[in-house]
Amino acid sequence: MDLFVVKGGTSLRGRVRVSGSKNAALPIMAAALMADGPTILHDVPELADVSSLSSLLTTLGVAVVRRTDGAMTLESASDEPCVAHYDLVRKMRASVCVLGPLLARRGRACVSLPGGCNIGDRPIDLHLKGLRALGAEIRIERGYVIAEAARLTGTSIYLGGPFGSTVTGTCNVMAAATLANGVTTIEAAACEPEVVDLGNSLNAMGARIEGLGTPFLRIEGVERLAGVEHTIIPDRIEAATLMIAAAATRGRVTLDNVRMDHLTSVVEKLREIGVRVQPRGAAVEVHVPAQLQSADCVALPYPGLPTDTQAQMMSLLTQAQGISIVTDKVFPDRFMHLPELVRLGARIRREGSSAILSGGRPLSGACVMASDLRASAGLVIAGLAAEGETVIRRIYHLDRGYERLEAKLAALGATIRRVKDDPAAIPESLAVPEDNAPPLVPWVHRPAA
Ligand code: UD1
Repeated sequence: MDLFVVKGGTSLRGRVRVSGSKNAALPIMAAALMADGPTILHDVPELADVSSLSSLLTTLGVAVVRRTDGAMTLESASDEPCVAHYDLVRKMRASVCVLGPLLARRGRACVSLPGGCNIGDRPIDLHLKGLRALGAEIRIERGYVIAEAARLTGTSIYLGGPFGSTVTGTCNVMAAATLANGVTTIEAAACEPEVVDLGNSLNAMGARIEGLGTPFLRIEGVERLAGVEHTIIPDRIEAATLMIAAAATRGRVTLDNVRMDHLTSVVEKLREIGVRVQPRGAAVEVHVPAQLQSADCVALPYPGLPTDTQAQMMSLLTQAQGISIVTDKVFPDRFMHLPELVRLGARIRREGSSAILSGGRPLSGACVMASDLRASAGLVIAGLAAEGETVIRRIYHLDRGYERLEAKLAALGATIRRVKDDPAAIPESLAVPEDNAPPLVPWVHRPAA
């Protein structure tokens, strides 16, 4: 296992390119299961989740090749395999994206339930509700979802849940409906840009989906889908993470390959905090002209502030004078990073689905533990802003979803290194603080005379 050693206190400066979106790439790769002929994808990021899905698709009979020019080709060679095994699915929850395409194209899907997750309860009941509405017979057996349907049938589906819409649920049901017999309407569909990117690529494959980017989708089923050549949208969460890192270190950073129209809520919030964000064509420049201000942040489904930026925003707000409140309405328990930020000296208290923090005091480096993908990014940002050195353990979470993050941060001037997790890797500066207090006199019980 690797860890990061980050030396804080350097303002990030320079220019880097944002990679293609992980959350768009995954369901689009899965959709290749439904295509006749090769799918060619550009700007698929090189990261652990993409490798995990590539391995899973390979077991499902898809030939996945990374070309020398960086493009990925996927071509389904056999319609036989239908089982997504636990060993592969447990590594990445988004493996569930194969469920809809497998069922629609092969008539049967046997996909392991992914199990527990560090950011809270993550049921897939809405995925199953949508697929059942399309006519699938679904049962759970030995930890696997077994779904069957000779051919799905178009219908009206409401996909809203207790925490709003579902992103991968919408991807699954929308993808499955493209090959259904007749018209499907989905109400309370997720509007995230990643769902739109999947919808656009499906339409380019021959699907007929209308209403992308709105909560109401109309899908006219077609007989077949063809392979497609498609460029994945820029990763808005990586862009937001780098913008927040620039702000937290009072730096000046230009990011290339950014879709500003996907970042409205993030940019609004950063401006409220006192960050200057200036779009320059397909690039954006970020810097901090004055003191950072406290703010209240609420993570909501798109176009609200993404839950995937909540941890990073919290780290930034530790640097802003005053009281901030950060609420997560998508994953109300997504606060594993909070006690780690407290280890760095942040003053934060959790109240239900909110965290109340008093910012503006310097953080001081410490050893902390990453608990999930975005929490890791939040801790890296806190480490960059802190005084001294911070060690972030379990960064395999970060490797799941950020392409060469430490290389990009280093290119911006950060002092960050990846080393094997080993007691010798802990810097001298993080040794146990010296205890200068006089030794404690043991308390001895003396019975009363
Ligand atoms: C996707 C993203 C993830 C992001 C999340 C929310 C991918 C690969 N992952 O995850 O990075 O944090 O959207 O923007 O795209 N829910 C149900 N029943 C369901 C499905 C979801 O109650 O069947 C709940 C979840 O517990 C959660 C909320 O709905 O509270 C949103 O979850 P969802 O949008 O499904 O997240 P994912 O698609 O898993």
